Amino acid sequence: MRSSRDDLPPALPAMWRALKRGYEAEPGFLAVSFGLSLLAALPDALFALWLKLLADGVPAHDRRLVMASAVGLGVTAPATWFLRVMSVRIQRQFRERVTIALESHVARLQASVATIEHHERPEYLNRLAMLRDQVFVLDHMYMSLFSTCGWILRLGVTVALLMAIHPALALLAVFAIPTVFTAAWRPGVERAVQERSAPANRLARHLFVTATTAPPGKEVRVTGIGDRLVARRRAAWERGYAPVAAARRTTAVWQALAWSVFGVGFLGSVAFTALVLQATPGAVLLVLAAGSRLSAYIGATVGEIGFLRGIWLEGSRRLAWLEDYVAAQDEHADATVPHRLLEGIRFERVSFAYPGTERRVLEDVSLHLKPGSVVAIVGENGAGKTTLVKLLCRLYRPTSGRILVDGVDLTRLPAETWRSRLAGAFQDFFRFEFRARQTVGVGDLPRLDDEPAVVVAVARAGADDVVARLAAGLETQLGPTWPEGVEVSFGQWQKLALARGFMRDCPLLLVLDEPTAALDAETEHALFERYAAAARGKSKGAARGTDGRITILVSHRFSTVRMADLIVVLDGSRVVEVGAHEELMAQGGHYAELYGIQAAAYR
Ligand SMILES: Nc1ncnc2c1ncn2[C@@H]1O[C@H](COP(=O)(O)OP(=O)(O)O)[C@@H](O)[C@H]1O
Ligand SMILES: [Mg+2]
Repeated sequence: MRSSRDDLPPALPAMWRALKRGYEAEPGFLAVSFGLSLLAALPDALFALWLKLLADGVPAHDRRLVMASAVGLGVTAPATWFLRVMSVRIQRQFRERVTIALESHVARLQASVATIEHHERPEYLNRLAMLRDQVFVLDHMYMSLFSTCGWILRLGVTVALLMAIHPALALLAVFAIPTVFTAAWRPGVERAVQERSAPANRLARHLFVTATTAPPGKEVRVTGIGDRLVARRRAAWERGYAPVAAARRTTAVWQALAWSVFGVGFLGSVAFTALVLQATPGAVLLVLAAGSRLSAYIGATVGEIGFLRGIWLEGSRRLAWLEDYVAAQDEHADATVPHRLLEGIRFERVSFAYPGTERRVLEDVSLHLKPGSVVAIVGENGAGKTTLVKLLCRLYRPTSGRILVDGVDLTRLPAETWRSRLAGAFQDFFRFEFRARQTVGVGDLPRLDDEPAVVVAVARAGADDVVARLAAGLETQLGPTWPEGVEVSFGQWQKLALARGFMRDCPLLLVLDEPTAALDAETEHALFERYAAAARGKSKGAARGTDGRITILVSHRFSTVRMADLIVVLDGSRVVEVGAHEELMAQGGHYAELYGIQAAAYR
């Protein structure tokens, strides 16, 4: 998991794994689809054989040969038709089912990634975005793989038929190599040229729009630049188009050459069969029929493999990467999360730089957060407050140093279990557009629809007024784009998010990272006072305050902060002061200075 710079897993094993995923999801459909793809190849490839039997049987008055040919040809048409209908239907079903299965698989994987590193690192984001896009086409890739096998089978049967006439005829496949080569090589060259011409084309389009649309019309006329625009557009277009046209001409030349080579080989093998081998007319006919298909089969195989390489291999490698990434995350988690905190949480010389960056956002932080205490973190924007909270939530691991929970390294606790004992709200909360009851209830999934629990959480967050104002109370659908959905203000969303954070009854750690920034100072103060009381086990709602819960408050309002048992002052990624309000005031340092400034502003 720390392998942020590791490359994607190797292609072929990854592809094999993706195949196995498809097989696990839909074993029956996958097997039948694959079988049908192979079967569908046969009538096509065997056509040359039936021709041979017919051409040999008629002049020789050989009833057996003619009958065999008649049966073969007779079966070919309905079999082709039947297989096509069947495989279209079955493959469509397979694709739909396997797409859903893979999408769910990817979604599950993503949701179970323990850190959010992959949401905040650009290279992971790109990888995930591509994977998300490619999940939709992964189903095409199974089909593409099947049809590649179908083409290879056709190719094999055709070469075998030719070799049955004479082994040397297999050489005809060699003459097809230039066509394969041009088919594999030229499209890439043309695409590259087109990409290089893109700026010129964009300019041409821009000039065309400028010359012909209304908004710039006045200025175009007043300045009289209309003719110049037209001329420049023409020039830009020529500049973009000329290299593309040249590349296409070159492709045409190469194709003509390649096909000439194959043509020579083809004519050569027919002549060889007829003149050198003095073979039967049937054999000559077979060489004509099979040979003419050979190059088409080779071309199709190469094209299909190109498609596979482009999408399937990349897609399956990304999928394999995500699977490994998820599998590796709890590798070292061998400890259990304590039922209640006895010693509290210790930071031991913790430093942290975001993965892929050099700058230390936290530097050598050592702290002891006692059980049952309320800890406030203050510091300027960018001082590292949220980062510290993210480390506590095990969304990242320290770059160096350790975080100990009752003496156990946090990285040894399984992320999911640890997080099930966290509660809290963040400044950048998410707007879950559900019914209000569930918008709050998701804070404790097992009790998603537990109305009394939701009501308690709403009360803890002081969000009763928000719910009271909703037309259907907790049943109100939030989000204006949904049927009967309503929009609520930013502050109301924030209170609901806060309520969500209070769904869990006995968390070990309650994190409040500026969740009330949109509320006024008085409300925030009142709310935090209540949480602090709950944390210390002094309020009746939290008689279980004896669970040793630690409450972390991040706020820039010193009126709120002063009530905390411990105040941690961060400045430039380091802890510069730690202590209770009175101690820090007495020290007359950074905290006292900032407190003085704010207090003066309020006076
Ligand atoms: N995902 C990230 N990747 C890289 N740098 C980040 C990321 N998130 C925050 N930072 C940087 O870390 C520093 C501390 O940020 P943060 O912890 O959010 O500060 P605070 O909450 O105190 O305002 C900032 O300089 C910020 O730019
Ligand atoms: Mg922050």
